[in-house]
Amino acid sequence: MHVQLSEEHLMIQKAARDFAQNELKPGVIERDELQKFPAEQIKALGELGFMGMMVDPKYGGSGMDTLSYVLVMEELSKVDASTSVAVSVNNSLVCWGLETFGNEEQKQKYLVPLAKGETLGAFCLSEPEAGSDATSQKTTAVDMGDYYLLNGTKNWITNGSSASTYLVIAQTDPAKGSKGINALIVERGMEGFIVGAKENKLGIRGSDTHTLLFNDVKVPKANRIGEDGFGFKFAMKTLSGGRIGIAAQALGIAAGAYELSLEYSKQRQAFGKPISQHQAIQFKLADMATEIEAARLLVYKSAWEKDQHLDYGTSSAMAKLYASKVAMDATVEAVQIHGGYGFVKEYHVERLMRDAKITQIYEGTSEVQKIVIARSVLA
Ligand code: CAA
Repeated sequence: MHVQLSEEHLMIQKAARDFAQNELKPGVIERDELQKFPAEQIKALGELGFMGMMVDPKYGGSGMDTLSYVLVMEELSKVDASTSVAVSVNNSLVCWGLETFGNEEQKQKYLVPLAKGETLGAFCLSEPEAGSDATSQKTTAVDMGDYYLLNGTKNWITNGSSASTYLVIAQTDPAKGSKGINALIVERGMEGFIVGAKENKLGIRGSDTHTLLFNDVKVPKANRIGEDGFGFKFAMKTLSGGRIGIAAQALGIAAGAYELSLEYSKQRQAFGKPISQHQAIQFKLADMATEIEAARLLVYKSAWEKDQHLDYGTSSAMAKLYASKVAMDATVEAVQIHGGYGFVKEYHVERLMRDAKITQIYEGTSEVQKIVIARSVLA
């Protein structure tokens, strides 16, 4: 694996960094406070080609590699994880899932506008009683011949009220367990599909997380992704790549908190010198820098494996497990380094600390990542 970034990678990284500093940072505290979805920013990211980064240009995407995507996720997440989660779900769950497993008709109808950033997607797996235990789907998609009759509730859905294309995982034949599950493309506006309550969250408060309700929604058979019963494997394969995106998000949150802490420690004076000259602070900065670099290498390795068409299921779980722990640890230390200022909103680190927690929960909790890793090492 080459860890040196190419000229093109550096340009993409800079474009994302400039966007984050110029377009995300100015309103990020207000959006967090008001739980305001970054609609304008997402539109602008679409115009930059960042909403369908890895999609083939013939389907409206930018045709970039996974490493480029990871670099963009890191830079955006240093400043605004509410925006970056919308980017991540659209890119690595919805676009990738449709491009890899959808048929030509589905790609033309749904993938092209998603990849161009004209529409936004959501991935709907979690339920009130099926989070980590994803095979226990209670949402049903009953086979009615030409269509599936969809009934049930999905919870904690990212882009819940802003999306127009929803990939919904539902149980068609409970007797078949994980092999009786289907993945359906549901459109905003289909009769019986209701966007329910918005969650009032600890972190990523600008991201619109909703409950979705499906009451006798008629979803055409043409909207099923893959063969009958492929839905669970579709979800698992898609989430393996999604975890690279969330690992990169966690990495960005950690790196953002570290960069703010480094800067602050050089300005802030205590006991007659900048606090960066006190060993107590130096040890914290050294730990943060080392752990962030280790997380970065895990994230890059998983992205590289994906680009090489190697099996990346284990490396993406490792990257997410470790980077999300680093995000949590680094942001707690960042607040500590900032002292009283760290506890107030203007200094950004308290928000990064709140945002970090979700990276240990969504797209599989840390415990789920450990299940995936343990199965691999014990196989
Ligand atoms: N790739 C391909 N196939 C896979 C797979 C993968 N990564 N993981 C499992 N499968 C296959 C298995 O091989 C098995 O197939 P066979 O029956 O043919 O052998 C089938 O799927 C069932 O697998 P398991 O028996 O391993 O299933 P399990 O019930 O033991 O579950 C689990 C394993 C890892 C815990 C899984 O349920 C899981 O990943 N849960 C977490 C779900 C999750 O990440 N949810 C996040 C929601 S989406 C989100 O958060 C998005 C957002 O908004 C930000």
